[in-house]
Amino acid sequence: MKQQLEQIRTTAIAEIAAADTSLEEIRIKYLGKKGALTAILRGMGSLTPEERPVIGAVANEVRNDIESALEKRGAELKKLSLARSLVEEKLDVTYDAIAPNAGHIHPITRALERMTEIFIDMGFSIVEGPEVETVGNNFDALNAPADHPSRDFQDTFYITESTLLRTQTSPVQIRAMRGMTPPIRIISPGRVYRSDVADASHSPMFHQLEGLVIDKGITMGDLKGILSKFAKTMFGPETKTRFRPHNFPFTEPSAEVDVSCFVCGGKGCRLCKNEGWMEILGAGMVHPEVLRAGGIDPDVYTGFAFGMGVERVAMVMSGIDDLRLMFENDARFLKQF
Ligand code: DAH
Repeated sequence: MKQQLEQIRTTAIAEIAAADTSLEEIRIKYLGKKGALTAILRGMGSLTPEERPVIGAVANEVRNDIESALEKRGAELKKLSLARSLVEEKLDVTYDAIAPNAGHIHPITRALERMTEIFIDMGFSIVEGPEVETVGNNFDALNAPADHPSRDFQDTFYITESTLLRTQTSPVQIRAMRGMTPPIRIISPGRVYRSDVADASHSPMFHQLEGLVIDKGITMGDLKGILSKFAKTMFGPETKTRFRPHNFPFTEPSAEVDVSCFVCGGKGCRLCKNEGWMEILGAGMVHPEVLRAGGIDPDVYTGFAFGMGVERVAMVMSGIDDLRLMFENDARFLKQF
Protein backbone atom coordinates (compact mmCIF):
# COMPACT_ATOMS: atom_id res chain seq x y z
CA MET A 1 0.00 0.00 0.00
CA LYS A 2 2.86 2.27 0.82
CA GLN A 3 4.34 1.51 -2.56
CA GLN A 4 1.02 2.32 -4.23
CA LEU A 5 0.97 5.68 -2.44
CA GLU A 6 4.54 6.45 -3.56
CA GLN A 7 3.51 5.51 -7.10
CA ILE A 8 0.54 7.90 -6.97
CA ARG A 9 2.76 10.71 -5.70
CA THR A 10 5.31 10.24 -8.48
CA THR A 11 2.83 10.06 -11.39
CA ALA A 12 0.63 12.88 -10.00
CA ILE A 13 3.57 15.27 -9.59
CA ALA A 14 4.92 14.43 -13.06
CA GLU A 15 1.49 15.01 -14.58
CA ILE A 16 1.10 18.33 -12.76
CA ALA A 17 4.50 19.55 -13.90
CA ALA A 18 3.63 18.75 -17.53
CA ALA A 19 0.12 20.28 -17.44
CA ASP A 20 -0.32 23.54 -19.26
CA THR A 21 -4.00 24.26 -18.87
CA SER A 22 -6.49 22.39 -16.74
CA LEU A 23 -5.13 21.46 -13.31
CA GLU A 24 -8.66 20.88 -12.08
CA GLU A 25 -8.92 17.59 -13.99
CA ILE A 26 -5.73 16.31 -12.37
CA ARG A 27 -6.93 17.37 -8.93
CA ILE A 28 -10.15 15.40 -9.39
CA LYS A 29 -8.28 12.43 -10.80
CA TYR A 30 -6.12 12.03 -7.65
CA LEU A 31 -7.81 13.91 -4.79
CA GLY A 32 -11.46 13.86 -5.82
CA LYS A 33 -14.16 11.67 -4.22
CA LYS A 34 -13.50 8.94 -6.75
CA GLY A 35 -9.82 9.80 -7.01
CA ALA A 36 -6.86 7.42 -6.77
CA LEU A 37 -5.72 8.59 -3.31
CA THR A 38 -9.25 8.47 -1.92
CA ALA A 39 -9.62 4.89 -3.13
CA ILE A 40 -6.52 3.84 -1.21
CA LEU A 41 -7.63 5.57 1.96
CA ARG A 42 -10.93 3.69 1.75
CA GLY A 43 -8.99 0.42 1.78
CA MET A 44 -7.29 1.32 5.08
CA GLY A 45 -9.98 -0.57 7.01
CA SER A 46 -8.28 -3.83 6.10
CA LEU A 47 -4.99 -2.78 7.72
CA THR A 48 -3.77 -3.86 11.14
CA PRO A 49 -3.95 -1.26 13.96
CA GLU A 50 -0.11 -0.99 13.79
CA GLU A 51 -0.01 -0.38 10.04
CA ARG A 52 -2.86 2.12 10.01
CA PRO A 53 -1.09 5.23 11.46
CA VAL A 54 2.04 4.58 9.36
CA ILE A 55 0.10 4.36 6.10
CA GLY A 56 -2.17 7.23 7.24
CA ALA A 57 0.88 9.48 7.73
CA VAL A 58 2.26 8.55 4.29
CA ALA A 59 -1.15 9.17 2.70
CA ASN A 60 -1.33 12.65 4.30
CA GLU A 61 2.16 13.43 3.09
CA VAL A 62 1.24 12.35 -0.45
CA ARG A 63 -1.95 14.49 -0.36
CA ASN A 64 0.05 17.52 0.89
CA ASP A 65 2.71 17.06 -1.76
CA ILE A 66 0.12 16.80 -4.55
CA GLU A 67 -1.71 19.88 -3.24
CA SER A 68 1.40 21.98 -3.05
CA ALA A 69 2.49 20.80 -6.52
CA LEU A 70 -0.93 21.88 -7.83
CA GLU A 71 -0.61 25.26 -6.15
CA LYS A 72 2.88 25.82 -7.47
CA ARG A 73 2.01 24.85 -11.04
CA GLY A 74 -1.17 26.95 -10.84
CA ALA A 75 0.86 30.05 -9.98
CA GLU A 76 3.31 29.30 -12.81
CA LEU A 77 0.49 28.88 -15.34
CA LYS A 78 -1.06 32.18 -14.27
CA LYS A 79 2.24 33.95 -14.83
CA LEU A 80 2.67 32.27 -18.22
CA SER A 81 -0.77 33.28 -19.41
CA LEU A 82 -0.22 36.88 -18.31
CA ALA A 83 3.09 36.96 -20.18
CA ARG A 84 1.40 35.47 -23.24
CA SER A 85 -1.42 38.03 -23.29
CA LEU A 86 1.07 40.87 -22.78
CA VAL A 87 2.77 39.79 -26.00
CA GLU A 88 -0.38 38.90 -27.96
CA GLU A 89 -2.47 41.89 -26.96
CA LYS A 90 0.31 44.44 -27.22
CA LEU A 91 -0.98 47.89 -28.25
CA ASP A 92 1.38 50.51 -29.71
CA VAL A 93 -0.07 53.77 -28.43
CA THR A 94 2.49 55.77 -30.40
CA TYR A 95 1.20 54.34 -33.71
CA ASP A 96 -0.15 57.04 -36.07
CA ALA A 97 -3.94 57.23 -35.81
CA ILE A 98 -5.93 56.83 -39.03
CA ALA A 99 -7.76 60.12 -39.56
CA PRO A 100 -11.52 59.71 -39.96
CA ASN A 101 -12.73 60.50 -43.48
CA ALA A 102 -14.52 63.80 -42.91
CA GLY A 103 -16.78 65.43 -45.49
CA HIS A 104 -16.01 68.69 -47.27
CA ILE A 105 -18.17 71.72 -47.89
CA HIS A 106 -18.90 72.08 -51.60
CA PRO A 107 -17.35 75.25 -53.12
CA ILE A 108 -20.83 76.45 -54.20
CA THR A 109 -22.20 76.04 -50.68
CA ARG A 110 -19.14 77.77 -49.26
CA ALA A 111 -19.53 80.75 -51.62
CA LEU A 112 -23.29 80.97 -50.97
CA GLU A 113 -22.83 80.87 -47.20
CA ARG A 114 -20.20 83.63 -47.31
CA MET A 115 -22.25 85.81 -49.69
CA THR A 116 -25.47 85.58 -47.66
CA GLU A 117 -23.56 86.22 -44.43
CA ILE A 118 -22.17 89.49 -45.81
CA PHE A 119 -25.61 90.75 -46.88
CA ILE A 120 -27.22 89.67 -43.60
CA ASP A 121 -24.55 91.72 -41.77
CA MET A 122 -25.66 94.71 -43.90
CA GLY A 123 -29.27 94.29 -42.74
CA PHE A 124 -30.72 92.22 -45.59
CA SER A 125 -33.12 89.37 -44.93
CA ILE A 126 -33.49 86.19 -46.98
CA VAL A 127 -36.61 85.50 -49.06
CA GLU A 128 -36.92 82.33 -51.10
CA GLY A 129 -39.01 81.70 -54.19
CA PRO A 130 -40.09 78.52 -56.00
CA GLU A 131 -38.02 76.96 -58.79
CA VAL A 132 -41.19 76.26 -60.76
CA GLU A 133 -42.39 79.78 -61.59
CA THR A 134 -45.09 81.41 -63.64
CA VAL A 135 -44.21 82.94 -66.99
CA GLY A 136 -45.85 86.04 -65.55
CA ASN A 137 -43.34 86.41 -62.69
CA ASN A 138 -40.30 85.21 -64.62
CA PHE A 139 -40.85 87.41 -67.72
CA ASP A 140 -44.01 89.57 -67.95
CA ALA A 141 -43.86 91.34 -64.59
CA LEU A 142 -40.10 91.82 -65.10
CA ASN A 143 -40.83 93.88 -68.20
CA ALA A 144 -39.36 91.36 -70.66
CA PRO A 145 -40.61 92.24 -74.15
CA ALA A 146 -42.88 89.65 -75.78
CA ASP A 147 -40.14 88.84 -78.30
CA HIS A 148 -37.23 88.75 -75.83
CA PRO A 149 -34.88 85.91 -76.88
CA SER A 150 -34.68 84.51 -73.32
CA ARG A 151 -38.38 83.57 -73.58
CA ASP A 152 -37.62 81.16 -76.40
CA PHE A 153 -38.12 77.50 -75.53
CA GLN A 154 -34.61 76.91 -76.82
CA ASP A 155 -33.37 78.90 -73.82
CA THR A 156 -36.06 78.14 -71.26
CA PHE A 157 -37.45 74.89 -69.85
CA TYR A 158 -41.22 75.30 -70.06
CA ILE A 159 -43.43 73.02 -67.98
CA THR A 160 -46.73 74.26 -69.40
CA GLU A 161 -47.58 77.32 -71.50
CA SER A 162 -47.76 79.42 -68.35
CA THR A 163 -45.21 77.74 -66.04
CA LEU A 164 -41.47 77.14 -66.35
CA LEU A 165 -38.29 76.37 -64.44
CA ARG A 166 -37.23 79.89 -63.48
CA THR A 167 -34.37 81.17 -65.62
CA GLN A 168 -33.28 83.70 -62.99
CA THR A 169 -33.91 84.55 -59.33
CA SER A 170 -35.37 87.94 -60.41
CA PRO A 171 -39.04 86.74 -60.16
CA VAL A 172 -38.53 86.69 -56.38
CA GLN A 173 -38.38 90.51 -56.66
CA ILE A 174 -42.02 90.46 -57.83
CA ARG A 175 -43.05 88.07 -55.03
CA ALA A 176 -41.26 90.22 -52.41
CA MET A 177 -42.81 93.47 -53.65
CA ARG A 178 -46.30 91.96 -53.68
CA GLY A 179 -45.90 90.45 -50.23
CA MET A 180 -44.10 93.24 -48.37
CA THR A 181 -44.41 96.98 -47.83
CA PRO A 182 -41.29 99.15 -48.25
CA PRO A 183 -38.70 99.59 -46.95
CA ILE A 184 -37.66 96.27 -48.56
CA ARG A 185 -34.13 94.97 -48.22
CA ILE A 186 -33.89 91.33 -49.27
CA ILE A 187 -31.62 88.79 -50.91
CA SER A 188 -32.79 85.59 -52.55
CA PRO A 189 -30.36 82.77 -53.26
CA GLY A 190 -31.39 79.74 -55.28
CA ARG A 191 -31.21 77.46 -58.29
CA VAL A 192 -32.05 78.61 -61.81
CA TYR A 193 -32.36 76.66 -65.06
CA ARG A 194 -31.56 77.31 -68.69
CA SER A 195 -31.69 75.03 -71.68
CA ASP A 196 -27.91 75.10 -72.20
CA VAL A 197 -25.50 72.31 -73.06
CA ALA A 198 -22.90 71.89 -70.30
CA ASP A 199 -19.41 73.18 -71.10
CA ALA A 200 -16.64 74.98 -69.21
CA SER A 201 -18.86 78.02 -68.60
CA HIS A 202 -22.46 76.77 -69.09
CA SER A 203 -24.68 74.44 -67.13
CA PRO A 204 -28.43 73.73 -67.44
CA MET A 205 -28.70 74.37 -63.68
CA PHE A 206 -26.79 76.95 -61.70
CA HIS A 207 -27.23 79.32 -58.76
CA GLN A 208 -27.93 83.02 -58.49
CA LEU A 209 -28.20 85.42 -55.63
CA GLU A 210 -30.74 88.18 -56.19
CA GLY A 211 -30.83 91.42 -54.22
CA LEU A 212 -33.57 94.04 -53.94
CA VAL A 213 -33.74 97.29 -51.99
CA ILE A 214 -36.79 99.59 -52.17
CA ASP A 215 -37.44 102.71 -50.14
CA LYS A 216 -38.05 106.43 -50.56
CA GLY A 217 -35.04 108.18 -52.08
CA ILE A 218 -32.92 105.14 -53.02
CA THR A 219 -30.34 106.09 -55.68
CA MET A 220 -27.64 104.56 -57.85
CA GLY A 221 -25.19 105.80 -55.17
CA ASP A 222 -26.74 103.37 -52.66
CA LEU A 223 -26.36 100.53 -55.17
CA LYS A 224 -22.69 101.38 -55.71
CA GLY A 225 -22.06 101.69 -51.98
CA ILE A 226 -23.63 98.32 -51.13
CA LEU A 227 -21.92 96.45 -53.97
CA SER A 228 -18.48 97.92 -53.35
CA LYS A 229 -18.80 97.10 -49.64
CA PHE A 230 -19.82 93.56 -50.59
CA ALA A 231 -16.84 93.19 -52.98
CA LYS A 232 -14.34 94.43 -50.39
CA THR A 233 -15.67 92.08 -47.73
CA MET A 234 -15.88 89.12 -50.10
CA PHE A 235 -12.61 89.48 -52.03
CA GLY A 236 -10.43 91.69 -49.80
CA PRO A 237 -10.23 95.38 -48.75
CA GLU A 238 -8.20 96.42 -51.85
CA THR A 239 -10.93 95.25 -54.24
CA LYS A 240 -12.27 97.90 -56.65
CA THR A 241 -15.63 97.75 -58.46
CA ARG A 242 -16.37 98.91 -61.99
CA PHE A 243 -19.83 99.59 -63.44
CA ARG A 244 -20.25 99.13 -67.21
CA PRO A 245 -23.45 100.32 -68.90
CA HIS A 246 -25.65 97.41 -69.96
CA ASN A 247 -29.26 96.61 -70.67
CA PHE A 248 -31.73 94.51 -68.69
CA PRO A 249 -35.51 94.76 -69.22
CA PHE A 250 -36.17 95.10 -65.46
CA THR A 251 -33.71 97.89 -64.62
CA GLU A 252 -33.08 101.42 -65.91
CA PRO A 253 -30.29 102.35 -65.92
CA SER A 254 -28.61 98.93 -65.94
CA ALA A 255 -25.02 97.93 -65.40
CA GLU A 256 -22.74 94.96 -65.43
CA VAL A 257 -20.39 95.03 -62.47
CA ASP A 258 -16.77 93.88 -62.44
CA VAL A 259 -14.43 93.50 -59.47
CA SER A 260 -10.68 94.00 -59.70
CA CYS A 261 -8.87 90.67 -59.75
CA PHE A 262 -7.99 89.80 -56.17
CA VAL A 263 -5.03 87.70 -57.28
CA CYS A 264 -3.09 90.26 -59.36
CA GLY A 265 -4.80 93.40 -58.04
CA GLY A 266 -5.73 94.46 -61.58
CA LYS A 267 -2.39 93.96 -63.37
CA GLY A 268 -3.60 90.91 -65.27
CA CYS A 269 -3.03 87.24 -64.53
CA ARG A 270 -4.21 83.74 -65.42
CA LEU A 271 -7.28 83.91 -63.14
CA CYS A 272 -8.66 87.13 -64.71
CA LYS A 273 -7.45 86.10 -68.20
CA ASN A 274 -5.18 89.17 -68.27
CA GLU A 275 -8.15 91.53 -67.98
CA GLY A 276 -7.41 92.69 -64.43
CA TRP A 277 -11.21 92.57 -63.87
CA MET A 278 -13.80 89.85 -63.37
CA GLU A 279 -17.51 90.20 -64.09
CA ILE A 280 -19.62 88.94 -61.21
CA LEU A 281 -23.09 90.46 -61.50
CA GLY A 282 -25.77 92.49 -63.23
CA ALA A 283 -27.55 95.37 -61.48
CA GLY A 284 -29.53 98.56 -61.92
CA MET A 285 -32.32 100.80 -60.69
CA VAL A 286 -35.63 98.94 -60.64
CA HIS A 287 -37.67 99.88 -63.73
CA PRO A 288 -40.88 101.85 -62.89
CA GLU A 289 -42.92 99.22 -64.78
CA VAL A 290 -41.51 96.51 -62.54
CA LEU A 291 -42.33 98.51 -59.38
CA ARG A 292 -45.87 98.93 -60.72
CA ALA A 293 -46.17 95.19 -61.47
CA GLY A 294 -45.11 94.57 -57.87
CA GLY A 295 -47.82 96.92 -56.56
CA ILE A 296 -45.44 99.73 -55.58
CA ASP A 297 -45.96 103.35 -56.61
CA PRO A 298 -42.89 104.48 -58.64
CA ASP A 299 -43.72 108.12 -57.89
CA VAL A 300 -43.17 107.47 -54.18
CA TYR A 301 -40.52 104.75 -54.10
CA THR A 302 -37.35 103.91 -55.94
CA GLY A 303 -35.09 100.91 -55.64
CA PHE A 304 -32.16 98.96 -56.94
CA ALA A 305 -31.69 95.30 -57.76
CA PHE A 306 -28.79 93.03 -58.53
CA GLY A 307 -28.25 89.43 -59.50
CA MET A 308 -24.98 87.58 -59.19
CA GLY A 309 -23.75 84.23 -60.38
CA VAL A 310 -22.87 82.06 -57.40
CA GLU A 311 -20.76 79.62 -59.47
CA ARG A 312 -18.87 82.58 -60.92
CA VAL A 313 -18.02 83.82 -57.42
CA ALA A 314 -17.18 80.30 -56.20
CA MET A 315 -14.88 79.73 -59.18
CA VAL A 316 -13.13 83.04 -58.61
CA MET A 317 -12.78 82.32 -54.87
CA SER A 318 -11.40 78.82 -55.38
CA GLY A 319 -9.43 79.33 -58.62
CA ILE A 320 -11.55 76.79 -60.55
CA ASP A 321 -11.64 77.30 -64.32
CA ASP A 322 -14.17 74.70 -65.50
CA LEU A 323 -17.80 74.89 -64.36
CA ARG A 324 -18.32 71.16 -64.94
CA LEU A 325 -16.02 70.33 -62.02
CA MET A 326 -18.65 71.87 -59.74
CA PHE A 327 -21.29 69.32 -60.72
CA GLU A 328 -19.33 66.13 -61.38
CA ASN A 329 -18.87 65.71 -57.63
CA ASP A 330 -15.64 63.78 -57.96
CA ALA A 331 -14.56 63.27 -54.34
CA ARG A 332 -10.90 63.85 -55.32
CA PHE A 333 -11.86 67.33 -56.55
CA LEU A 334 -14.14 68.19 -53.62
CA LYS A 335 -11.53 67.03 -51.10
CA GLN A 336 -9.40 70.05 -51.99
CA PHE A 337 -11.87 72.46 -50.40
N1 DAH B 1 -31.51 88.25 -63.87
C1 DAH B 1 -30.28 88.65 -64.54
C2 DAH B 1 -29.69 87.43 -65.25
O1 DAH B 1 -30.10 86.34 -64.98
C3 DAH B 1 -29.29 89.19 -63.54
C4 DAH B 1 -29.71 90.50 -63.01
C5 DAH B 1 -29.32 91.66 -63.67
C6 DAH B 1 -30.52 90.61 -61.90
C7 DAH B 1 -29.69 92.89 -63.20
C8 DAH B 1 -30.91 91.83 -61.42
C9 DAH B 1 -30.48 92.98 -62.09
O2 DAH B 1 -31.67 91.99 -60.36
O3 DAH B 1 -30.86 94.21 -61.63
O4 DAH B 1 -28.83 87.60 -66.05
